[in-house]
Amino acid sequence: MSPFAGRRIVLGVTGGIAAYKAVEICRRLVEAGAHVTPVLTEAARRFVGEVTFSALAGERARLSLFEDEDPIPHITLGRRAELILVCPATARAIGAYAAGLCDDLLGATLLATRAPVVVCPAMHTEMWEHPATGDNLRRLTERGVTVVAPEEGPLAGGDVGAGRLAAPESILATAAEALAASGAAAGSMAGLRVLVTAGGTREPIDPVRFVGNRSSGKQGYALAVEAAARGAKVTLVATVQRPLPESVGPESVDLVLVETAEEMRTALADRLPADVVLMAAAVADYRPAAAVPEKMKKTGEPLTVTLEPNPDILAELGRSGSVGTLVGFAAETSDVLANAEAKLRTKGADLIVVNDVSAPRSGFDHDTNAVTILAAAGDRTTIPLAAKRDVARAILDRVTALRASR
Ligand code: PMT
Repeated sequence: MSPFAGRRIVLGVTGGIAAYKAVEICRRLVEAGAHVTPVLTEAARRFVGEVTFSALAGERARLSLFEDEDPIPHITLGRRAELILVCPATARAIGAYAAGLCDDLLGATLLATRAPVVVCPAMHTEMWEHPATGDNLRRLTERGVTVVAPEEGPLAGGDVGAGRLAAPESILATAAEALAASGAAAGSMAGLRVLVTAGGTREPIDPVRFVGNRSSGKQGYALAVEAAARGAKVTLVATVQRPLPESVGPESVDLVLVETAEEMRTALADRLPADVVLMAAAVADYRPAAAVPEKMKKTGEPLTVTLEPNPDILAELGRSGSVGTLVGFAAETSDVLANAEAKLRTKGADLIVVNDVSAPRSGFDHDTNAVTILAAAGDRTTIPLAAKRDVARAILDRVTALRASR
């Protein structure tokens, strides 16, 4: 079967002379069974008319962020795409993408997608060899974008040199590889029973007050959503309710709301054994020894609340033998790696994901995080500051690699 059969591909066409070659790419993708949505920039339309693409794709070519039936076309296209192929990609389009500019439909779609992106540069040699183009492409490849390098050959205006759009065969082969790689991630947790915890536990002092912490649950939710996207059957034991994306149905993420560490412990124990447990929740180490049944009255006198230790759920899971791969987190503010190493040793986890929660834009409540994954086997993987969903991807890639190595 063709690697493109049934796959949703956005074909981004930007304005260079090689735009006419994108017609052939479009035709071949459609012939191979792909659902192709052509997205043309204003400049691309000066080279090839949108009707050509619409007729070949059997789908209206999309042109504008604002003059579209869909009020948010970039979001719809970005979410639906399984691959975005930018062919040809001009120096301007590459620069705009590297800079995160989204002033046209293609630029906005590229920013709104989590699908793999393949970029096929085509331009004159001087532009191809300009350091700005090189810098922009380096930035893109660092972010995971695949670049199909241009070839040497005849260029517009009778010139000959580097910058000619790569041959359709190599563009299609690279696109197929990118789809296969993302498909592999998509199915990499198929059938696994995964338990994820999220949010901070609330340990009651009385019916209205509690001992708590700053965890928003964002990192745990991102892990649950990503595990579900990879085919896992996920139970998310959380202290907070957050929206789940439309792509995640109740059959793939079962949400169990709890409040205290004791409730979280029971909810997890009831669902063992599990293939993978990801303890992203900030579990309170201590709880009030006795919750007062009525709201405590203000007396004006100092108040002493005696705290007693909560069970260490992660350490219990580590001893239980009922978890295939156990991933703990460590929220640290100093001696970050040394403290995380100690947790890795004492809690019986296979991996500890440590975040310095005092670092800018990291840890509690931020949409981004920066972590290091420590493995019991001794290796370390550092994930620089990234969206929590991307951090979740990296963590699950590490979990998958660990399981495969056993
Ligand atoms: O929720 P967000 O706002 O997105 O923030 C994410 C996060 C900072 C909460 C998350 O990335 C994180 O670091 N979670 C772990 C927080 C924490 O409790 O760290 P800790 O170092 O105190 O605990 C170490 C590990 O033991 C954790 O996996 C924790 O879930 C677990 N633990 C802790 C205490 C306890 N009594 N039982 C436990 O199981």
